[in-house]
Amino acid sequence: MEYKSVRGMDDLLPQDAWIWHDLEAKARREFESSGYSEIRTPILEDTSVFVRGIGETTDIVTKEMFTFQDRKERSLTMRPEGTAPIVRAYIEHALLARSPISRLYYIGPMFRAERPQKGRLRQFFQIGAEVIGSNSPFADIEIIAQVDGLMKSFALKDYKIKLNTLGCKADKAKFAKALKDYLADKSSRLCDDCRARMEKNVLRVLDCKNESCKDVVRESPNVIESLCGGCVEHFEKVKSNIESLGIRFEEAKNLVRGLDYYTGTVFEVTHTALGGQDAIGAGGRYDNLVKDMGGADVGAVGYALGIERMIIALIAEGAHPKDGDIIYIATLGDAAKLEGIKIARSIRHGIESDGLVVLTDAGDTSLKSQLRSADKSKARIVILLGEDELKQGKVAIKDMSGKNPQVMVSFGDVVEEVRKALC
Ligand code: HAM
Repeated sequence: MEYKSVRGMDDLLPQDAWIWHDLEAKARREFESSGYSEIRTPILEDTSVFVRGIGETTDIVTKEMFTFQDRKERSLTMRPEGTAPIVRAYIEHALLARSPISRLYYIGPMFRAERPQKGRLRQFFQIGAEVIGSNSPFADIEIIAQVDGLMKSFALKDYKIKLNTLGCKADKAKFAKALKDYLADKSSRLCDDCRARMEKNVLRVLDCKNESCKDVVRESPNVIESLCGGCVEHFEKVKSNIESLGIRFEEAKNLVRGLDYYTGTVFEVTHTALGGQDAIGAGGRYDNLVKDMGGADVGAVGYALGIERMIIALIAEGAHPKDGDIIYIATLGDAAKLEGIKIARSIRHGIESDGLVVLTDAGDTSLKSQLRSADKSKARIVILLGEDELKQGKVAIKDMSGKNPQVMVSFGDVVEEVRKALC
């Protein structure tokens, strides 16, 4: 039997790991320096967390969850997203009692049984953040500025932030009604999915990719007309302040989201490299979710970026790994190998340099083939340690760029000599 990974669930191979590390490290730096703390929730949750949190009629809940019964016949689901579990944890561990505002971030795998294609997987990773405990537009502004800051720290250029509002719960219901009335005599022009959505989740008709549906909604009512005074003011503040911060965005009147918990500000980050699946990230406000799941009446806002989609965008823009310095220690004989390991450890601990790699021989290969490996790995410095050197208590340090002549130094001076050679 030939074993293969599960459809839509990819391996991360060693040659591709660098970009994941780079993204995660930059994200962590951005979060930690903004006072966000990491939260890790389990991969499995009680199914009701998602049914309640995301919404019974959403595509995720009706079609895309990996749900199964455990041995005690409890229904469990592999998390399709991070927000509902975080709200569950926020309530369960009474985080509100610790601080009026919780700033949380997460990095981890999510699971959705969607039809796999470019940028659409069944196991995918998200980097996300949530601010729970604030109704202020300045929380939305902080979150959108953070998304923009992350894009800049990833050095991503061709991204676009699309912004809309759905209004509060009452506005959203008013808008849904206006939309339903508008669509009432046009249902024959809608796709089968959208005809069903008209009954269950009419807002989703607005972001259907079907050309005929797109045509129908081109002239549909604008959400702005359904907003109450407070929601208009909130949205205006968000827009004017992010503009003042120099953040580019465009208003997208038909931007609605596939999760029911959103109210108020919603946004998406898109990138042309993604084609049909063009959202590299998305988020918004969910002011009723904490209360709906049994917690306090507190507002919240957050987002998640899809790591695989960001990587597609970054590669399309020509991202490549940073070259770190490689030091190769070539040794001959067991005693020299052991000394080589000691020297490698002292260099790793003695020299702080981003991306510095110290390699030793892990096989029983000849000096010649070790030098070939050193060459192949583009080593900047080779340290030679054979039986003669060992007897003298010295190593030969060879600068592969040819800038400095080969030198013999005693074991105790290796770290200092390597440091000089790297300058
Ligand atoms: P979402 O729009 O469902 O929102 O997902 C966020 C991002 O995850 C998407 O923009 C996309 O980049 C990535 N993504 C989603 N599905 C897939 C997939 N099948 N394959 C690859 N990438 C995918 C949420 O998940 C919300 N929890 C975001 C949020 C946080 N809102 C408030 N707080």
